[in-house]
Amino acid sequence: MGSKTVTETVCVTGASGFIGSWLVMRLLERGYLVRATVRDPDNAKKVQHLLELPNAKTHLTLWKADLSVEGSFHEAIQGSNGVFHVATPMDFESKDPENEVIKPTINGVLDILKACVEAKTVRRVIFTSSAGAVDVQQQPRSMFDETCWSDLDFILSKKMTGWMYFVSKTLAEKEAVKFAKQNNLDFISIIPSLVVGPFLGPSMPPSLITALSPITGTESHYHIIKQGQFVHLDDLCLAHIYMLENPKAQGRYMCSSHEATILQVAKFLREKYPEYNVPSKFKDVDETLQNIVFSSKKLTDLGFQFKYSLEDMFIGAVETCRAKGLLPLPK
Ligand SMILES: NC(=O)c1ccc[n+]([C@@H]2O[C@H](COP(=O)([O-])OP(=O)(O)OC[C@H]3O[C@@H](n4cnc5c(N)ncnc54)[C@H](OP(=O)(O)O)[C@@H]3O)[C@@H](O)[C@H]2O)c1
Repeated sequence: MGSKTVTETVCVTGASGFIGSWLVMRLLERGYLVRATVRDPDNAKKVQHLLELPNAKTHLTLWKADLSVEGSFHEAIQGSNGVFHVATPMDFESKDPENEVIKPTINGVLDILKACVEAKTVRRVIFTSSAGAVDVQQQPRSMFDETCWSDLDFILSKKMTGWMYFVSKTLAEKEAVKFAKQNNLDFISIIPSLVVGPFLGPSMPPSLITALSPITGTESHYHIIKQGQFVHLDDLCLAHIYMLENPKAQGRYMCSSHEATILQVAKFLREKYPEYNVPSKFKDVDETLQNIVFSSKKLTDLGFQFKYSLEDMFIGAVETCRAKGLLPLPK
């Protein structure tokens, strides 16, 4: 990293978050001028880790923008050459899912794409989609790829935990693809599986609440990784940059390097961190449970190489949580 010198200007939405902040770090390392959007630039707790990044003083600017406020991304996008749209509301407990999650996600991406068209400087948009736009389907499958879309009728009939997030990401990606086509905008979506790894922010990232649930005993999240797929945060961010830099990239890209059942994850965690008393048994799970694959063949065929193992992801996550006081240290 850092060998290529670039002076392009890129905008990263949701820059204070788990993925956004690591992406900003990697972009700054590569010499990009980064416009980072956050909802509250004056909230030191949320932006300090961005301001402290190497090259931030010369190459990073913070911009206030909210997906619920029409037009608020226009200024940050005007003059940008690339846009990484990472931000999304992710409140699974929302009392008003339509207005707090679904509408801001869909209207927000369309507003951002409108700003990209108007700016006339943006050569490509990279949208961070979600497995929730791909794999929420009634029929069990052993493999998912870019041709798969979550089934909205099924989601709305079941209203399972996180349903509003699945609806929001599915509709946002579909609407965005349509808008981009109509307006001749170069639009790429990246579909990560569960993102795990070390991180920069001060609080526990949403995806690590799930990934580290066997350690914390958060049973309500076990089903999400019963047959899980995983990608390292650094691999995912490098894939985002690869998508911006590779002229041949087009369409949707799954980005997932490993699959494992909760039993396999728990076995590794138990052996590596015996002090956390990670369970060895999970309801409806045994050794015969098959993995479900998220095929990233399209991405690797383009030339992208994943660097990290499943162990790297979990060790990075646990060590960072310990260092930040988010997980207890061994006695
Ligand atoms: N982590 C995963 O495992 C995973 C997997 C698949 C897809 N994704 C996708 O990756 C993206 C980032 O997720 P993450 O894991 O980094 O989550 P995160 O840490 O919660 O970051 C999300 C960011 O979105 C911003 N945001 C929320 N509501 C907003 C709104 N109304 N207007 C503007 N910004 C808003 C927040 O910004 P503020 O700080 O300004 O409040 C926050 O920094 C999302 O699009 C998500 O769907 C994540």
